[in-house]
Amino acid sequence: MTIKPLRKAVFPVAGLGTRFLPATKAMPKEMLTVVDKPLIQYAVEEALEAGIEQIIFVTGRGKAALEDHFDVSYELEATMRARGKSLDLIHGIRQRPGSPVYVRQQEPLGLGHAVWCAREIVGDEPFAVLLPDELMVGSPNFLAQMVEAYNQVGGNVIGALEVPDEETDKYGIISPGRTEGPLVEVTALVEKPARGTAPSNLMIPGRYILQPEVMRVLEAGEKGAGGEIQLTDAMARLIGTQPFHGFTFAGQRYDCGDKAGYIQANLALALARDDIGPQVRSFAQALLA
Ligand code: UTP
Repeated sequence: MTIKPLRKAVFPVAGLGTRFLPATKAMPKEMLTVVDKPLIQYAVEEALEAGIEQIIFVTGRGKAALEDHFDVSYELEATMRARGKSLDLIHGIRQRPGSPVYVRQQEPLGLGHAVWCAREIVGDEPFAVLLPDELMVGSPNFLAQMVEAYNQVGGNVIGALEVPDEETDKYGIISPGRTEGPLVEVTALVEKPARGTAPSNLMIPGRYILQPEVMRVLEAGEKGAGGEIQLTDAMARLIGTQPFHGFTFAGQRYDCGDKAGYIQANLALALARDDIGPQVRSFAQALLA
């Protein structure tokens, strides 16, 4: 089996973010900041650090702020320069003409549908999918750890993370087979199983390395849980036809699509910072006293 190198990453950012209203009425959820950086930038940096060369955003209406964030801001740069301030504060990510690539989803029909919208750019290559509202903190980062595993086993490698039994009905869940270190064989997948029916408590956090064949399964547009076209269902069809592994992450996950998880991420990352950490610690202690 030849293992094709992973070069492309898809960021589905066309969701409506209804759990975060009213913040997300006119602003994309992915532009919510954790300390001083939007969620989408954390995810893009993770991908670039993991060796990804092509960034593909699947966007929709009302996501212009996101596109502007990855563009050059002439006014801002001129002003910062005039004030003698470092331009690193503005981007952090090197600008490259023609990049990122944007495709539109038009209608938010589900994560599977969003991924399928990137099919022409992905072509016949393996690709990563990163959900930016899942903030992963680790060293090396989550996708980088997954890429290392992928380079050994090939096929499909998806994130795997243990959650308490009472939370399994919120996520895509892995039915695990043989385990070897951080890798676990995937024997089945189920999206949001009803309480008490989950095959394990291994959920899929928003990181995937997939083979292009999944696009052909998604083509059928079959609807699953919640009436949405589910990526989990399409991936499940590939099991048995290609190697399929879960990869457990040594690091921390923050579910920033959820209000409490988002606050937790802000607090944790702020406390870890050299510049504001001590100050945040002292006021957090005062608030809790
Ligand atoms: P979520 O399930 O978090 O949905 O999507 P959402 O619409 O963003 O948020 P809520 O649940 O209404 O608050 C997971 C990821 O998939 C993308 C989202 O943008 C998010 O990054 N997505 C979801 C799409 O791009 N298109 C869709 O049709 C659905």
